[in-house]
Amino acid sequence: MLRSRSGNFASAAAAFLLGSALAGAALAGGPAKESPLSMVEALHSAFGDHHDRAVHTKGLVFVGTFTPAKEARTLTKEPIFSGGPLPVIARFSLFAGVPDLADNDDGASPAGLAVKVKAKDGDDFDIEANQHPDFIVSTFDEFAVFLRAVGSTKPDSPHPSPVEQFLATHPHAVQFLHSRTYPASYAQARYWGINAVKFTNAKGQSVFVRYTFKPHAPEKYLTPDERKVAGPSYLGDEIVRRIAAAPVSFDLYAQIAGKGDKIDDPAVAWPATRKMVKLGTLTLVNQPDDPNEVARTLLFLPGQSHPGVEAADPMLVLRNTAYPISLGERQ
Ligand code: HEM
Repeated sequence: MLRSRSGNFASAAAAFLLGSALAGAALAGGPAKESPLSMVEALHSAFGDHHDRAVHTKGLVFVGTFTPAKEARTLTKEPIFSGGPLPVIARFSLFAGVPDLADNDDGASPAGLAVKVKAKDGDDFDIEANQHPDFIVSTFDEFAVFLRAVGSTKPDSPHPSPVEQFLATHPHAVQFLHSRTYPASYAQARYWGINAVKFTNAKGQSVFVRYTFKPHAPEKYLTPDERKVAGPSYLGDEIVRRIAAAPVSFDLYAQIAGKGDKIDDPAVAWPATRKMVKLGTLTLVNQPDDPNEVARTLLFLPGQSHPGVEAADPMLVLRNTAYPISLGERQ
């Protein structure tokens, strides 16, 4: 059954912006209580179940190549970083789980970039990133609590509404919601992998890293006035036109964890001064011939282990279990 709760989401989104930062963050630890299915249901409670991606629903698929940088081999023995260019499928998306969301809606940010490198040995290498260097909450379970609070907040909910109650005890979430940016183009945004992974090189030396994609085009974000007048498909229309005219590229970097950087808390960004090592260049050249069919069957598994690359943040391992549930529901 298709249920649309986008109106409810829009009112909850408005409530986010009214939230004020109050003291006291409660961060859950220990094993996750949520199952992959209960997490996808929590996403539906916030956004509705549209028989589509449970979140990041509106998006566009492109194909191109990934060309590794030689510095990558100093960090990881993963084969995709040692050969020549490999084929890529990538998808840009708005954040919320609402298929007809306007590109200039509050819930469109943080926009996503998901990348699948088709490795020669058939071991696809997936990275998912979004526009924020940190996540709204620290754990998988806490994300479900937030989503259910959004879902149970109605336009006529007495104050404090469930989402206001959540925000009152989660100052980082308030700060996150207020610091969202809205890109002028999908090709002019910076994207972050957020959840830490462990890289191991051929000598057996390991480091913890977080991915980031830096656009070749200059970063540009809309002012609030520009966003108000941007059309409901300004991002989608622009990226299709731009890639039809010329390839769009991003450099992929590994941000190396420093002393004291949290591996298991995606709500805390690592300092911008941390060393960045270039891993390669992503270049998008075309839409596939059958973009809707490619998008329907496309599954990204960003927590998958590979030789020399392992998920380190527990949230990444848990995310990997929820993605196939959403894929199954949208077939
Ligand atoms: C507890 C945290 C998270 C959960 C439960 C979650 C869950 C999901 C689900 C269920 C989907 C739809 C999958 C599909 O139908 O194929 C999705 C898509 C996506 N997620 Fe997450 N996610 C989480 C955190 C993140 C983070 C931290 C990032 C960015 C670093 C991210 C980036 C994306 C992107 C870019 C997509 C769109 C993939 C596509 O284009 O097909 N997610 N997420």
